Amino acid sequence: MIGELVIKRASKISVECEIKNKHMENENGSAGITRREMLAGTAVAVTALAITRVTGLEAAPASPIVTPVESAGVSFNVNGKAVDLEMDTRTTLLDVLREHLHLTGTKKGCDHGQCGACTVLVNGRRINSCLSLALQHQDDSIITIEGIGTPENLHPMQSAFIKHDGYQCGYCTPGQICSAVAVLEEIKAGVPSHVSTELMGPMEFTNAEFRERMSGNICRCGAYSNIAQAAAEVAGVTG
Ligand code: FES
Ligand code: FES
Repeated sequence: MIGELVIKRASKISVECEIKNKHMENENGSAGITRREMLAGTAVAVTALAITRVTGLEAAPASPIVTPVESAGVSFNVNGKAVDLEMDTRTTLLDVLREHLHLTGTKKGCDHGQCGACTVLVNGRRINSCLSLALQHQDDSIITIEGIGTPENLHPMQSAFIKHDGYQCGYCTPGQICSAVAVLEEIKAGVPSHVSTELMGPMEFTNAEFRERMSGNICRCGAYSNIAQAAAEVAGVTG
C-alpha cells in the first residue's frame, strides 16, 4: 500500500517534469534545467520501485499451507525379530531398515528402483525396498543381508562370492547376494524368465537364466562374471 503511494507520487513528478520540459522547449527551444528535473523525477520513481521490492511493501505473499505429517503404526518381522514401529506414512521400507532399525547392510543406490542395491527378501521374494512403503508390510517376514548370514556363519552364497571375488567396492554386494539367493529359489520353483524356453515344468540354472534374472542388480565395478560363477557354484553347476 505504502509502496503504491510512493510509486504514484514519483510517477506524477516524472510526468509533470516531462510536460514542463516540452513547454520550455516550445517556448525557447532550450531543455537544460527541465531535462535535469525530468531525470531527477525518473530516478525517484525507479528508487521507489526498488524500495518497494526490497521491503516487500507491495503485496504480502500468501502464507504457505502447512500440512500436518501423518504417522501410523506397522508390525512385521525382520530377520526373525518382531518389530513394531510408528512412522511417517511416507517412509519407505529401505529407510525404515536403515534409519529406524540401523540395518545398514541394505544399501541406497539410486532410490528409484534402478540399481537393485536395496534388494531384500519379503516373504521369500526379492523386492526393491526403495520402491515399497513400510506400511505395506504389515505381518510380512523380511530378510536383509544381516539375516542371510553372519561373519561367523556365512550363507553359501556369501562364501561363494568371497571365493570367486564377486565384488570390488562391495556397495552393490548385499543386494546382489539377496537377489542371487532368491534367483536360485525362483529357478527351483520353476518360475519362468524372459529367456526361458519353456514356461511350464522344471527349470535349469544356466548362465543366460541367471544373467537375465539378475539384470536389475547393477554393479558399477563390473563384477558380473565372478558373481555368475559364484551363483553357479551354489547352484551345483560346474564348468
Ligand atoms: Fe533401490 Fe536403487 S536404491 S533400486
Ligand atoms: Fe562395486 Fe558392485 S562391487 S558396485
